[in-house]
Amino acid sequence: MQAPVPSTVRWPLPFFARRRNAQCRRALKPVAAAAAGQDRPSVLTGELVTLRPLEPEDYPTLARFANDVEIALLVGGRPPTPDALPSVVALYEGRREDPHTLGFAIIANNDPGRLIGQCALFNQHQVARTAELGILIGDRDYWGRGCGTEAVSLLADYGFRLRNLHKVHLSVNATNPRAIRAYQKAGFTEEGRRRKHLWNDGEYVDLVLMGRLRDDPPPA
Ligand SMILES: CC(C)(COP(=O)(O)OP(=O)(O)OC[C@H]1O[C@@H](n2cnc3c(N)ncnc32)[C@H](O)[C@@H]1OP(=O)(O)O)[C@@H](O)C(=O)NCCC(=O)NCCS
Repeated sequence: MQAPVPSTVRWPLPFFARRRNAQCRRALKPVAAAAAGQDRPSVLTGELVTLRPLEPEDYPTLARFANDVEIALLVGGRPPTPDALPSVVALYEGRREDPHTLGFAIIANNDPGRLIGQCALFNQHQVARTAELGILIGDRDYWGRGCGTEAVSLLADYGFRLRNLHKVHLSVNATNPRAIRAYQKAGFTEEGRRRKHLWNDGEYVDLVLMGRLRDDPPPA
């Protein structure tokens, strides 16, 4: 009979553990199992946040985040739109069924059970081994405390190490310096800009393109 698999993974593992500790390989098993065939990713645990699969009970909170106009402007893309719960449910259920999307809930470790946001790898390209990263911390109490940087790092490491991604990329409004700084801290660099690409809060703003290669030096 197979040994029971632990339900959480401490992530990222300390470098020395990765190098010389067979326990590392055992600890990776739950996520590796997900990578091998199951659609639902496992739990990734950092110091500040834990990334776990999105569950239906998360949807009302996610709908609240989706209807926060300030957040919608930071995220960019489409103009803020009233999103009733059913459309938010349809959005996340659609992502769940999309084989090219891996979505996670972001949970605060200092308040277990508190859903503070969501993040995802999406638009995965099977040949180029790339994926796009998106993140939204909707609980303002958790802005500027390092949670976003850690969630992005966890997600990128997961993509590189367990999904064999070669590159993770993203786009961000030039008017969102907090996000740009968090991405930089997580090892992403600017690759270019789409000038005046978005209509955002009464003005055209640049869209900044950022990326991180698996072989890039790890963030300091
Ligand atoms: C963007 C987001 C994920 C960042 O997560 P976070 O936990 O708030 O960010 P962190 O605390 O990890 O890092 C923020 C960094 O930006 C810096 N920062 C904050 N406001 C800033 C500003 N106006 N100018 C420059 N830097 C700023 C902080 O000082 C910190 O850097 P430091 O650690 O070097 O001091 C989160 O704030 C969020 O989801 N916001 C709403 C939605 C959003 O913007 N999503 C991203 C869409 S692309």
